[in-house]
Amino acid sequence: MGFRFDVITLFPELVESVVASGMPRRAVEQGAVELHCWNPRDYTKDKHRTVDDRPYGGGPGMVMKADCLLDTIRDVKRNSSGKVIYLSPQGQPLTQSAVRDMSKQESLTLLCGRYEGVDERVIELAVDEEWSIGDYVLSGGELGAMVLIDAVSRLLPNVLGHQDSAEQDSFSNGLLDCPHYTRPELVGGLGVPSVLKSGNHAEITKWRKQQSLGRTQKRRPDLLEGKELNEEELNLLSDYLKVSLKKEAD
Ligand SMILES: C[S@@+](CC[C@H](N)C(=O)[O-])C[C@H]1O[C@@H](n2cnc3c(N)ncnc32)[C@H](O)[C@@H]1O
Repeated sequence: MGFRFDVITLFPELVESVVASGMPRRAVEQGAVELHCWNPRDYTKDKHRTVDDRPYGGGPGMVMKADCLLDTIRDVKRNSSGKVIYLSPQGQPLTQSAVRDMSKQESLTLLCGRYEGVDERVIELAVDEEWSIGDYVLSGGELGAMVLIDAVSRLLPNVLGHQDSAEQDSFSNGLLDCPHYTRPELVGGLGVPSVLKSGNHAEITKWRKQQSLGRTQKRRPDLLEGKELNEEELNLLSDYLKVSLKKEAD
């Protein structure tokens, strides 16, 4: 049985498009991932199939109603025991380590808000965790759910062609990835670092580690805060910084 995602959304066709191509599609075809969408509109009881209402206290915008959402979640729970995650700008910022933890579970239920969001009592009664995909506001949780489905799926066993490739990605070891090159050897007058053509695997590994450390220090120093570097890593980083300072001075 594959990893089961149940997504509660007013726009199932949008969420389903995440498994229409590329890696997530292969994951579904292989049986590594199952995606089920649930539309809260199917759980409304009035003739207009109303899913939103005006906010108590007034003000702009509409709020997603609790009753149809709670009924949807109740039905999802008959099929899945996964944690219920509400995608929300107010949630914890999503990180690769959180995604890795999620990928070790068997299923997740993703609740997508729209309008001003969902009635707070849905969160209190039925949501286990809230996650944000960044400090900006989207018009709905669907893109967040799709981000999560993609990020989790690529960590499931045998989904990526080369088993090592997720391990080498940015954040997996707390660092940014090193630069990559492929043929041809010359592009716009720029060559390829000679070590990568040397065939010396130990030197290549060392160079990659140095690039990862250096890039992380330059682009995301916050990732290195609190990370213990061993003597070899400290030397690699200091050499990288010396070279890059010299390049900047030239
Ligand atoms: C317009 S937003 C509501 C924003 C809400 N009024 C607030 O300021 O916190 C509508 C929905 O989009 C989703 N959403 C918006 N930004 C998001 C983010 N950064 N991460 C995850 N979901 C987000 C949530 O599901 C939210 O309920």
